Amino acid sequence: MKNFDCINVPLDEELVKEKPDYVSSHLDEESIKNELNTSIVGKRLVLLETVTSTNDFLKALAKENCKNGTVVATREQTKGKGRLGRKWLSKKDDSIIFSVILFPDIQPEECLNITLLSGLAVCKAIREELNIDCKIKWPNDIIINNKKLGGILSEMSASGGKLEYIIVGIGINAEQRQFPKEISHKATSLFCQSEKAIDKNRLFAKILKSIEDEFMRNNLELTGTALEEYTSLCATVGREISFFRGEKRLCGKAVGIEPNGELAVKLEDETVCSLGFGEVTVQGIY
Ligand code: BTN
Repeated sequence: MKNFDCINVPLDEELVKEKPDYVSSHLDEESIKNELNTSIVGKRLVLLETVTSTNDFLKALAKENCKNGTVVATREQTKGKGRLGRKWLSKKDDSIIFSVILFPDIQPEECLNITLLSGLAVCKAIREELNIDCKIKWPNDIIINNKKLGGILSEMSASGGKLEYIIVGIGINAEQRQFPKEISHKATSLFCQSEKAIDKNRLFAKILKSIEDEFMRNNLELTGTALEEYTSLCATVGREISFFRGEKRLCGKAVGIEPNGELAVKLEDETVCSLGFGEVTVQGIY
């Protein structure tokens, strides 16, 4: 495809695995290009066979003034990072793994909106493309049947109170047939939920388009329709939750999402507080 700026590392054809009852595919340039219909997000696409972390790779590209909306995707990460310092592990070709960089003219504290809009976009793309009832666990876990399907790690760089860039890194479990015993009660994949072959290239292109649409339609803000949609897809809202404030564990009910992306929680003493980050334990969800 012309005007599509893509660095493609040669891929090992032997790694197209024949599975007993269906044939899986890996991310490849041609197939993604055939499906991609965006003007900013993924217009420049770097597709790698293996990398430590797509977030870290993009951080290095940011130093070379890469374009707004550049996407780095990979078939495998060797040092994938999760939120709160955790690892993000996935076998080669099992997941859709990518990061997108934006250079928006916003305040660092507005970045939460971008992360939440990204989660909304991923959730909507999967629902539309695969007809699967996935939801969001605030702030940005993608869940199906109360198990985790995917996660988002956003990292930003700011200087003198001004945002330089934000990198949104997304991992979606696609082809895993089972998970290690320690996490099998809380992790799932598209395959586990649908028992169907997943066209990862097509889904990936749809997700990029959905992200671009949500960013542009909502001007990077979580207001109006985006806030309504996020709230209706957010499985956290309406449930009993607990979280830590310092050493203290607080309990309450999640009652809504604020326009700045924070979670509104009615505490046991009936006061309402807002949560901006961190981990919440949600009753009924892993
Ligand atoms: C989480 O739920 O803890 C967030 C997981 C984010 C994983 C993605 S995979 C692509 C990008 N690169 C990384 O190293 N992490 C994110």
